[in-house]
Amino acid sequence: MSIEPRPYQTVAIVGAGSVGATLAYAALVRGAARRVVLYDVNRAKVTAEAADIGHGTEFMHQATIEGSDDIEICRNADIVVFTAGAKQDPGQSRMELAAKTVGLVQKVMPTLVDIAPDAVHMMVTNPVDVVTYAAQKVTGLPTHQIFGSGTVLDSSRLRYQISRECGVAVQNVHAYVLGEHGDSEVPIWSSASIGGVPLLEWLGPDGRPLFTDSVRERIGYDTVHAAYEIIEGKGATNYAVGLAVTRIIEAVLRNEHRVLPVSTLVNDDLLGIRDVCLSMPTIVDARGAVERLGIPMSSFELQRLHASAVALREAARSLGF
Ligand code: LAC
Repeated sequence: MSIEPRPYQTVAIVGAGSVGATLAYAALVRGAARRVVLYDVNRAKVTAEAADIGHGTEFMHQATIEGSDDIEICRNADIVVFTAGAKQDPGQSRMELAAKTVGLVQKVMPTLVDIAPDAVHMMVTNPVDVVTYAAQKVTGLPTHQIFGSGTVLDSSRLRYQISRECGVAVQNVHAYVLGEHGDSEVPIWSSASIGGVPLLEWLGPDGRPLFTDSVRERIGYDTVHAAYEIIEGKGATNYAVGLAVTRIIEAVLRNEHRVLPVSTLVNDDLLGIRDVCLSMPTIVDARGAVERLGIPMSSFELQRLHASAVALREAARSLGF
């Protein structure tokens, strides 16, 4: 009697550029997935990336990786991660990439949904909120089944900055960046905490509040502009976004019910935000992005979130959505 091996959970990554290749590496090194398939139209590139990562599988958890310029390699994947598309040039905003990447999404997404209809589909390509909105409209997938990596990366940048300011491990810092993954994103200070202590009450060595208006303004600016700085220096960002997206993949494949600020289609009368994809704290599990949480915000933060929603709505409208 032949025993069919159980099918391994498969992550399909569309795009073998610096983000897609780093994501493949991070997902395998962290053991997020047992099998990764990498698809790109550039056969030489995708074959080389898969080989270079594959040569290290001896040093990883049980892992396999395959690369191909045939989109069929994504068939029946458990999660499909879309990283293909143009990357920001130095000084270029993510939103300036919109027309080019939305065109690619309209071209490729229908085939991906056709060959992986039951997969969770995650968009990473920028501008990720507009790209997610377009992908949801183009595919008609249920809104939990298609979402964007959103501000998971921005929130990790904010937590990193806060951790360095107060000297506490970043894992004990809870703070969100919400709204657009981009220039209008909003650091949410009012509900941030460090080891259970409200951030705004955290005292510095002098016994006075550490996170003054000027400190928060500096950290907020550094968070929002982090990508521009890195792109100026090395041409692209890839490591932190690869790890942030791997974290989301783990929440899906392990059915973790993990709260993550991913980008989903929001129609929320309470928030006064309608028909736009942006990031709010959301429960992520095997079904995808299933439930958005309403976290407390100051009136100023809510006002900035509205402004972010307006910017995203206008961007989507300018592309015909
Ligand atoms: C960044 C890219 C992924 O923020 O948008 O690094």
